[in-house]
Amino acid sequence: MQAVGKFDEVQAHLRERQYRWLVTGAAGFIGSNLVEALLGLGQRVTGLDNFATGYRHNLDQVRDAVGARWSDFDFIEGDIRDPATCARACAGVDFVLHEAALGSVTRSLEDPLRTHETNVTGFLNMLVAARDAKVRRFVYAASSSTYGDHPGLPKIEDRIGKPLSPYAVTKYANELYADVFARSYGIESVGLRYFNVFGPRQDPNGAYAAVIPQWVAAMIGDRPVFINGDGETSRDFCFIDNVVQANILAATATAPNAANQVYNVAAGERTSLNELYRMMRALLQERFAHLRDRAPQYKDFRAGDVRHSQADITRARELLGYAPTHRIDAGLREAMEWYVLHLADAS
Ligand SMILES: NC(=O)c1ccc[n+]([C@@H]2O[C@H](COP(=O)([O-])OP(=O)(O)OC[C@H]3O[C@@H](n4cnc5c(N)ncnc54)[C@H](O)[C@@H]3O)[C@@H](O)[C@H]2O)c1
Repeated sequence: MQAVGKFDEVQAHLRERQYRWLVTGAAGFIGSNLVEALLGLGQRVTGLDNFATGYRHNLDQVRDAVGARWSDFDFIEGDIRDPATCARACAGVDFVLHEAALGSVTRSLEDPLRTHETNVTGFLNMLVAARDAKVRRFVYAASSSTYGDHPGLPKIEDRIGKPLSPYAVTKYANELYADVFARSYGIESVGLRYFNVFGPRQDPNGAYAAVIPQWVAAMIGDRPVFINGDGETSRDFCFIDNVVQANILAATATAPNAANQVYNVAAGERTSLNELYRMMRALLQERFAHLRDRAPQYKDFRAGDVRHSQADITRARELLGYAPTHRIDAGLREAMEWYVLHLADAS
């Protein structure tokens, strides 16, 4: 993949100048990786999380990774459903990276109200707090689920279909609110439509675990790997480093029209679940010989899932200078190292 020009520039600027960032969902997978990257760049960071699906041990790992820079981190244990907590967290902040939400299409189908409270009411609380605190920019986690039933491939930001789950409705509502807040109050926001992010610290446990960590845990633990459908369902799997890059670029981009947009954040490639299984098994079978003769087990298709997903990342490339550094194979290799280290003992 191409060299990272703009991101190198932005990182050099951040090493020279310290800003204050708020990362919501800081104890989660993406949030904790953002905190680690920002502290590594010498930034001051406040984290906000209520541990609904995140973990203290994620923050402990960040502390161990950043050494003395940990003193630039403050943590607020709190809930974005509480407006006062959001106001407190936004005070004095330059950039907000809003990651806190309840993920999972399945969870939202089982409990739409709970998903709505965090993902829509909580989002609105954060947007109001960011507006009142006059932050420079509000960057938020949108989702590829917003493409819903639109058949076009690859996915282009302006062509969306009808949402296929309550989760997708909440993420689309975020985009609508951010847009209206830009028009009505002049707040600058950027929505990042993530496509199947994976990497270290993504939770392998629980009913709502994402496919890659769920499969790694099953493979290492010698349990069956289940594929929903025939395995030809495809996704644009995006390694976490690409997502970190997109967030930092989105917060700092100065190009005209860069703000008040939504962007696809992905690698721009499509991998079927069958291919993913083969790639993961190949990476793990060196260390876990039992995997050599294993095959996945196929189940029914899952409600609310789209069949194929692949992003066109032209807009992010052109307006943000986004240049993904990791294709799926390189990302899987890095993620596997981490999972083997953290899961092998537990299995
Ligand atoms: N991982 C993906 O592939 C993916 C894809 C598209 C969008 N997203 C979005 O990216 C964001 C981060 O996802 P993730 O994969 O890191 O999930 P995660 O579950 O690991 O992180 C979410 C964090 O938000 C926190 N949180 C939840 N409700 C909260 C509340 N009411 N108040 C405060 N904190 C709360 C959780 O405790 C958790 O630490 C979410 O908005 C998610 O919808 C993720």
